[in-house]
Amino acid sequence: GTTLATSAAEKGRYFGTAVAANKLSDSTYVGILNREFNMVTPENEMKWDATEPSQGQFNYTSADRIVSHAQANGMRIRGHALAWHSQQPGWAQNLSGSALRSAMVNHVTQVATHYRGKIHSWDVVNEAFADGGSGARRDSNLQRTGNDWIEVAFRTARTADPGAKLCYNDYNTDGQNAKSNAVYAMVSDFKARGVPIDCVGFQSHFNSASPVPSDYQANLQRFANLGLDVQITELDIEGSGTAQATSYANVTKACLAVSRCTGISVWGIRDTDSWRASGTPLLFDGNGNKKAAYTATLDAL
Ligand code: XIL
Repeated sequence: GTTLATSAAEKGRYFGTAVAANKLSDSTYVGILNREFNMVTPENEMKWDATEPSQGQFNYTSADRIVSHAQANGMRIRGHALAWHSQQPGWAQNLSGSALRSAMVNHVTQVATHYRGKIHSWDVVNEAFADGGSGARRDSNLQRTGNDWIEVAFRTARTADPGAKLCYNDYNTDGQNAKSNAVYAMVSDFKARGVPIDCVGFQSHFNSASPVPSDYQANLQRFANLGLDVQITELDIEGSGTAQATSYANVTKACLAVSRCTGISVWGIRDTDSWRASGTPLLFDGNGNKKAAYTATLDAL
């Protein structure tokens, strides 16, 4: 293939990117998006603060723009994210206990129902585990409603949209470590007890302090061996030149080496689209030109 999407498709995979609704009027941005990608993740537009700014009042305007663009251009959609400790609306941040639990369940039901039949995969729960060596759940208002909040979110999402793949998504879980071991134990338990989960997303935000782990492929494989799909969901790698290109190629090869690694998404198109405050972590430069990292990724597909 001559593009990321067509080359990935030849390998039975997709290649995606995060998309911001307010950039869909930028012709350079849209040109690259439509040419290179066949999966989109709304970067912020499906988050709780965006979709339910006041309790019980839902606003899908920005997210629907991305969904419409994706559908009109034959791209699939990764919904992101139904339940997360971050980017909650203020009203939810101020809830706790059964009121917050009920609000979370209603949010999952309403949003997943609104998009029923349109979402390839949902990040049902995002970033629920703590960093470091504890293997504990992240302390959050959702966690404090009870340890079962994650499985409740998954069961609620399955009921609302039975056709969507339901994923758990996190960062610093890309290699084998205490955090990924804890996620692995949760997913194993969910599979054993029939809690509906279909996939695990590995955000894969890499930099010099957190490079591509040497056991990345092995870690993807052990999750796949639990009987679900894995995806690389928010890939970006700080750096430049050959070193960055090699890291992108290594990530791509690791996914392709795992039969149940079904796709790769980068977290933005041009370096200037990145959420990172500084650096050049993406595949296209600020002018939309292909970087060495792009060529290495395409060659690895
Ligand atoms: C980021 C967005 O890119 C930013 O625009 C926003 O200000 C903060 O969130 N992990 C995730 C994503 O799951 O939702 C985050 O996206 C990046 C880290």
